[in-house]
Amino acid sequence: MPNPEAPSSTLTFVILSILATAALVTSKSTIEPCSYSDSCNAMLGYTLYTDLKVSEVASLFQVDPIALLLANAIDISYPDVENHILPSQLFLKIPISCACVDGIRKSVSTHYKTHPSDTLSFIADSIYSGLVSSDQLREANSISDSSVLDVGMSLTVPLPCTCFNGTDNGLPAVYLSYVVRDVDTLAGIAGSYSTTITDLMNVNAMGSTTIAVGDILAVPLPACASSFPRYASDFGLIVPNGSYAITASHCVQCSCGPGNLNLYCMPSTLAVSCSSMQCQNSNLMVGNLTMLQSSGGCNVTSCTYGGFVNGSIVTGLSTSLQPRCAGTQLFPPLIAPPNTVKRGSMFAPAPSPLSSAGSLSPTSSVIPSTGSFPRSTTTAGGPTGSPVTAACTALNPGIASLTMVVLFMCGKLMATMFSSI
Ligand SMILES: *[C@@H]1O[C@H](CO)[C@@H](O)[C@H](O)[C@H]1NC(C)=O
Ligand SMILES: *[C@@H]1O[C@H](CO)[C@@H](O)[C@H](O)[C@H]1NC(C)=O
Ligand SMILES: *[C@@H]1O[C@H](CO)[C@@H](O)[C@H](O)[C@H]1NC(C)=O
Ligand SMILES: *[C@@H]1O[C@H](CO)[C@@H](O)[C@H](O)[C@H]1NC(C)=O
Ligand SMILES: *[C@@H]1O[C@H](CO)[C@@H](O)[C@H](O)[C@H]1NC(C)=O
Repeated sequence: MPNPEAPSSTLTFVILSILATAALVTSKSTIEPCSYSDSCNAMLGYTLYTDLKVSEVASLFQVDPIALLLANAIDISYPDVENHILPSQLFLKIPISCACVDGIRKSVSTHYKTHPSDTLSFIADSIYSGLVSSDQLREANSISDSSVLDVGMSLTVPLPCTCFNGTDNGLPAVYLSYVVRDVDTLAGIAGSYSTTITDLMNVNAMGSTTIAVGDILAVPLPACASSFPRYASDFGLIVPNGSYAITASHCVQCSCGPGNLNLYCMPSTLAVSCSSMQCQNSNLMVGNLTMLQSSGGCNVTSCTYGGFVNGSIVTGLSTSLQPRCAGTQLFPPLIAPPNTVKRGSMFAPAPSPLSSAGSLSPTSSVIPSTGSFPRSTTTAGGPTGSPVTAACTALNPGIASLTMVVLFMCGKLMATMFSSI
């Protein structure tokens, strides 16, 4: 005698599995196809799930704590800043290296060591704040039974990133992987990051302005590009407007903005031993410049940083004639290491971590605001248009139609189920 319940529960199971798949498919992430193996620089938008030390956040992503602080314009001259406890819900930009794996851009250099009572969904949704999904963790680590996670297991955490050749509309840009939250709108995100809805839609190959919680958008941040030679270990260094980067084994610190988008590099004040930073045949050091008012304009001689090659700091002396002698070099304002998350900014995308307790320290010892400006500029103009973006446009509709197929299948199955009841 057939059990009338059996087919229906099997069917329910099938439907639930398909619905689960549909939910997965609908949480979109922008995919950038790639064909060469070079890594590029990208950012992850990360929200702290609990209070964490700077060093703990850095080790979650296996990044340099100093680089992490500077990417968020946090003053590194604070005593014991790496042990500073950052507040839960703080939003940070994590600078990462974006690789090319199996034909798409992703970061695969992050590993997580499991703790007792960790579950894949806790690791994905809380510890990595939605930047990875349980299924991606399961797949990347060939986990068949996710109910048993061995303690101390080292999990590869694949993280979404894009570079789009370091340009957006032909201008230098760094891409931030941003996890959409329930309060977000596309207009809100565009406003927070000084971009436009149109640009976000183009970059992410979106057909409409609809975004869903958990979607991961690539948000272009205007940046200052470097022009170091390909053989330099920091080739491709690119610094978002309003922030800093550290390079050359902590010897050189570069900033971007606020006045212009020319990368400005100078010796860092970290106590490390560094190779010479003096320009040949000159008494100028990296970051120094001299200005000479002449009849033709302002004759500017500057000693600039040219990359880190074989453990040595490359310097270059350049002379240019500017229309007029400019004023002081401006630096992005530094903030104190945050202690609190500003109410209201808590769930809103913040371009930089804001701290109600933090005071601005423009005259920090880290960033002396001495030295005056105009640099001979190598225009870091990128290529116009991005074939990669175009290729991506072709990808996303594919994902969308897959969703449609799954939903259609669900509909059909439900119809079948109802008719069988
Ligand atoms: C860079 O940042 C500064 C300060 O936030 C802002 O005034 C300026 O418009 C930004 N530049 C670009 C190109 O976004
Ligand atoms: C050159 O740069 C160094 C390090 O930034 C600074 O200490 C020094 O005062 C500068 N010299 C001149 C002449 O600007
Ligand atoms: C600018 O100054 C440098 C050295 O200070 C000199 O060699 C060069 O000829 C000057 N250029 C102009 C256009 O005055
Ligand atoms: C770096 O050092 C290696 C070995 O010392 C040398 O073969 C190579 O040419 C150097 N590269 C550059 C760019 O100087
Ligand atoms: C990327 O940019 C470089 C110059 O910045 C350019 O030579 C190259 O063709 C660009 N590649 C693509 C795929 O846009």
